Amino acid sequence: MISSLAELTETCQSRITALFDFYLEKKTSQAPLLQKAMYYSVSNGGKYLRPLLVYATGLIFDAPLENLDIPASAVELIHSYSLIHDDLPAMDNADLRRGKAACHKAFSEAIAILAGDALQPLAYEIIARHPAQLTTEQRLKMIYELAHASGLEGMAAGQALDIIGLSSLSSVENMYALKTGALFTASIKLGMIAANSKEHAVLNEFASYIGLAFQIQDDLLDFSNDPTLIGKPIGLDAINKKTTYPSLVGIEKAREKIHDLLTKGTKVLILLGEKASLLHSLTQFILEPKEMKCT
Ligand code: IPE
Ligand code: IPE
Ligand code: MG
Ligand code: MG
Ligand code: MG
Repeated sequence: MISSLAELTETCQSRITALFDFYLEKKTSQAPLLQKAMYYSVSNGGKYLRPLLVYATGLIFDAPLENLDIPASAVELIHSYSLIHDDLPAMDNADLRRGKAACHKAFSEAIAILAGDALQPLAYEIIARHPAQLTTEQRLKMIYELAHASGLEGMAAGQALDIIGLSSLSSVENMYALKTGALFTASIKLGMIAANSKEHAVLNEFASYIGLAFQIQDDLLDFSNDPTLIGKPIGLDAINKKTTYPSLVGIEKAREKIHDLLTKGTKVLILLGEKASLLHSLTQFILEPKEMKCT
C-alpha cells in the first residue's frame, strides 16, 4: 500500500527508470547515437509529474502497479519528445533543459529531431506489448487516449497555436488546455483505463483545472531571476514574444488564477473521498507557490 507522496514518488521513479533502462539503455541498437539521445532526454532529471498522475489516479481504483507502469512510462515518453522538439531553434530555441544542455545542444539538431520522432512510437510499442495484466481492449483505449491528446486535437495543436501568437485570455487558456492540459487529462484517463474503471467526470474536471494551473505556473517561472531554480533559460517567453497568461494579466493576477484553479480542483477531489488523498497531495505539491524572486 502506497500511503504517502514520498513513497509514491520513489515508486514511480524506480519503476519508470527500470522501464527506460530496459528499452533504451540496455538494448543494442544499430543507431547508438540516436539511442543515447533518447535515453539522455528521458533520464535527465524530469519531475515525472504525468507518470505520478497516472499512478495516483490508478491507485484510487486499486490498479496493479504493473498495469500502471505502462501508461506512466508512455506518457512520459511523449512528454519528453515534446520537450526536445519544443527546445529546437525552430521553436523556442532553448539551450537548457532540466539543468542540462538541451538535446539538440548535447547532440545535434538532426539527432534531436530523430530522438523525438523515435520516442513517440516507443510509447505506443510499450502500450501495445509490454507485459502486464492488461486486456487488448485496455491497451487499445490507452493508445487512443494518448494519440488523441498528443496530436492535432491536443499537444501538437497547442504548440502550433503557441507560436502564432494569441491576443485574448480565452484563446491563451484554450491553447494551454491543448499544449499542456491534454497530456495531464490523458494521464488521469490512462490511470483510470489501467484500473478498468469507468470514466469519472469529476477526475476529468480536476485534470483540466490543474493542467491550466500548471502551465500558468510554468509561465511565472519564466519571470524568475534564477535559472538554477527552473533548469531552463529564464525570460525566454519575453525574448520569443510569447503571449502568456501573466503577460496578459500580470504576475499577481496570474498567481490568483492558479490559486483559484487549485481551490476548484481540490473541491472536486473531495467528492472522491479518502481514496483520492495521494492525488490531493500530488496536486498541492505540483502547484505549491514556488519560492522565487521575479525580475
Ligand atoms: C514542462 O513540463 C513543460 C510544460 C508543459 C510546462 P514539466 O515542468 O513537467 O517538465 P519536466 O518533465 O519536469 O522537466
Ligand atoms: C509547454 O510550453 C511545452 C510543451 C507542451 C512541450 P513551454 O514552452 O512553456 O515549456 P517550457 O517552459 O519550455 O518547459
Ligand atoms: Mg514552448
Ligand atoms: Mg519552451
Ligand atoms: Mg515555459
